Amino acid sequence: MSPEFSEKTIKKIREIVACYPRKEAAILPVLHLTQKEFGCISEEEEKRVAEILELKPIQVREVVTFYTMFNQKPVGKYHIQVCSNLSCSLMGAESLIDYLKEKLGIGLGETTPDKKFTLSSVECLGACEMAPSLMVNFDYHGNLDKEKIDKILSGLK
Ligand code: FES
Repeated sequence: MSPEFSEKTIKKIREIVACYPRKEAAILPVLHLTQKEFGCISEEEEKRVAEILELKPIQVREVVTFYTMFNQKPVGKYHIQVCSNLSCSLMGAESLIDYLKEKLGIGLGETTPDKKFTLSSVECLGACEMAPSLMVNFDYHGNLDKEKIDKILSGLK
């Protein structure tokens, strides 16, 4: 069993839940807090969130598995999420994903042995105007090519 929520997080969850007419409406911000606290949202955390929001665990699972911003297992220090949706695909996202796989020595959904990088392919990041694009943790990078990727990676210590 993983650790429980901290008192600080429990307090924040209560504040968030109080903002909504129904507890279940708070599911997204509560899941963000959960991920912030535990680094990912495993089945244990899903059950905890379900209990707090008085939902069935499957209802929480549906949300966690729908949104790619929720990590179901631990990720590396830098989570590289490459958009593979239409605009980015048309602008060469697939070849950039292949380049990243080669550079990092991992496949999609995998983490480097030193736990520094996790590579994921995700749906539209809402940054189509700078396709192809990716996110490193919460930072956006766009108009990518191999040189820009090299520069981004060299800046990640
Ligand atoms: S399609 Fe890639 S950011 Fe929208």
